[in-house]
Amino acid sequence: MATSEDIQTLILTTLDTQGTIENTDSLKTADGATIPYLAVVGVLNSLASKEMIAYTTIERDQFNLTQEGKDIADSGSHEAKVFNAVDPVNGIAIAELAKLLGASAKIGQGKAFKNKWIKKDGDKLVREVESIVDQTQLDALEIRNTGTHSKPATLKDLQARKHVEKVKLISYNVTKGPKFALKIEKQATDLTAEMLADGSWKTQTFKKYNFAGNPPEGGHLHPLMKVREEFRKIFFELGFEEMPTNKYVESSFWNFDALFQPQQHPARDAHDTFFLLDPATSSNFPDKEYVQRVKEVHSHGGYGSIGYGYDWKIEEAEKLLLRTHTTSVSSNMLYRLAQETKARGSFKPAKFFSIDRVYRNETVDATHLAEFHQVEGVIADKNLTLGDLIGFMEIFFEKMGVPNIKFKPAFNPYTEPSMEIFSWHPGLEKWVELGNSGMFRPEMLEAMGLDPDVRVIAWGLGLERPTMIKYGLDNIRELLGHKVDLDMIQSNPACRLDKKMGKELVGKDAVDA
Ligand code: PHE
Repeated sequence: MATSEDIQTLILTTLDTQGTIENTDSLKTADGATIPYLAVVGVLNSLASKEMIAYTTIERDQFNLTQEGKDIADSGSHEAKVFNAVDPVNGIAIAELAKLLGASAKIGQGKAFKNKWIKKDGDKLVREVESIVDQTQLDALEIRNTGTHSKPATLKDLQARKHVEKVKLISYNVTKGPKFALKIEKQATDLTAEMLADGSWKTQTFKKYNFAGNPPEGGHLHPLMKVREEFRKIFFELGFEEMPTNKYVESSFWNFDALFQPQQHPARDAHDTFFLLDPATSSNFPDKEYVQRVKEVHSHGGYGSIGYGYDWKIEEAEKLLLRTHTTSVSSNMLYRLAQETKARGSFKPAKFFSIDRVYRNETVDATHLAEFHQVEGVIADKNLTLGDLIGFMEIFFEKMGVPNIKFKPAFNPYTEPSMEIFSWHPGLEKWVELGNSGMFRPEMLEAMGLDPDVRVIAWGLGLERPTMIKYGLDNIRELLGHKVDLDMIQSNPACRLDKKMGKELVGKDAVDA
């Protein structure tokens, strides 16, 4: 038996010397054996997938002898056997013939009579002709030798008499493909980091993707992402621009210092914040003067503020961390807005939003994980007031399906005034917190270079709680982590933050302030 490797070599070397293989039936192994077509097609498919060859299928009918047909080809037809059993001089007794030939005697006699080869003489059979031509045997031999018969009518007759059966023969016409070679180059299935690092990806050949077959079971939006889409729609409807949030690692500078959060603030402790070990710091800050202004306003004040009166240290601002809120992105964007304003020579109002992951060193329980998503909105315009923030919050939460919100004074290091946003929960029969908001402090905005009359209102809320309420989950581990039921993700309906769900959406401490 030829191995598939042998067959592969045979095909490739034949193509190399002959250019094409008209018909794979002509392929023979070293010991002259033909190759089963299933073995051939396996090798052809594998070579074709590598574009080393191309092939087309040749289909034709072949006629093979059945066992009865083979017996006739080997030892003659039943009627010839009968004729041969009849002694040319003495004939044969009918009883004797049956003993001699068994089943053939009966079938053969009729035909031999019809052919007028023999006749009855009392209880004996005698010959009527001297010799015969056994056409049935000749027909069988023709089939055996050529796989068919020159007379279609005979072929049909032989099939009807079950001497012959039709089989489909499959073979192939093979030509060289664009990547023809005598040796198979090992194709990589994946692009690896090593290939990128050592440059070997440039010469490596890759296995082609096979897009045929069952569609993959992936590609279902996670419920969090469905609710996220609803929030995005609201923001886009209101003319907001999405902030680039693809930066989970941030410097303490953007996460805290730029936001006028003092360096001794408890949130900046390792108990609350995940700091990076390697690399632990980054000194990649925008411009030295801005950093200097931040240092100044923290240490001594400015822009009408007395500051915190402590010794601000760049080393603390350089510490890398996993961002604890998306406000790190907002501070970065507002600094850019200040830069653009300076470059343009005039201020252009801006509306930004973001929805992405943040990290806090929390004790994990049924409703808290160490990572969660925040939804954040920022509006910058001249002379905005607290009334604008309140009015806008009413519009925004109304769009979320949450009417009748209330505000409660709160404290954030970076906003003044600050307000927590509450809504009446009819199920729990109490006011529950939805989010947190405020007007960014002049210590933050003016240090960035924005004019004193540019005011920025901002708010934030969590994404997990509205999602859990919407999808009826009461443990956050059903939503995120290794215990998540994939079926829950695949079969959940789309989400609509319409009026109907508003009341459900009002959950307990919707934002982790
Ligand atoms: N950053 C705040 C939080 O993490 C939310 C917030 C954003 C508050 C913007 C005021 C302004 O909860």
